[in-house]
Amino acid sequence: MAGAHGNVLVHVLDDERSAAAALAAILVEAVEAGASIGLSGGSTPIAAYERVAALEGDWGDATVWLVDERCVPPDDPHSNERLVREAVLERVIVPPVFQGVWTPGLDPAAMADRYDALLRAEGVPELVVLGVGGDGHTASLFPSSPSLDASDRLAVATKAGMDPRIDRVTMTLAAIARADRVVFLATGAGKAEPVRRAFKEPPSPATPSSLARSAAGTTTVLLDRAAATLL
Ligand code: 6PG
Repeated sequence: MAGAHGNVLVHVLDDERSAAAALAAILVEAVEAGASIGLSGGSTPIAAYERVAALEGDWGDATVWLVDERCVPPDDPHSNERLVREAVLERVIVPPVFQGVWTPGLDPAAMADRYDALLRAEGVPELVVLGVGGDGHTASLFPSSPSLDASDRLAVATKAGMDPRIDRVTMTLAAIARADRVVFLATGAGKAEPVRRAFKEPPSPATPSSLARSAAGTTTVLLDRAAATLL
């Protein structure tokens, strides 16, 4: 199983807004340091991304990657590129270098090969932002998926998920492990059970969030009280 299990620091914030503010503070510092940053999709981090764009307009020295993507064009409602464009790239004065996954004319496997090669050439992001799905998934690494075993890859194509009709490309556990800092954001009562499995129980492929850790750096978990009730 790819991925090491380094130190995990859990922070429980008062509410969803404070948890988003805590992520925003980490991101502002990273943007100002000109870091490379991997952003996840989902609904939870959007407020934090928008806050960072409002607080820091100059992202010119930073590079933004997508932790995962659905293989749909950027105008599709399911596209994480669209989410990041709307929450960050279209709001800031000086945009970062943006490394998206979607490439017209390539099938999902070829998009994954291209992203894998790009990550090898440029290095994985120093900071990786992750969410926790209701089933314990993170990125597009779903419970007991073969993608969890892709230890020789930094990005893979995957079909698993709540909507298997949509192909996806995801960074692997091996890529996430190379990040200096991994930061999870999870809020709301619906996340209490997967958060318990991810951060209190022994690591298991049944809960991919329990396997996604920085190997040599830090893994920080930002929760609101509701998501932390079972810890
Ligand atoms: C995505 C993600 C995914 C997400 C979780 C949590 O693109 O959907 O990268 O792993 O982080 O599903 O999503 P919510 O924030 O919507 O609960």
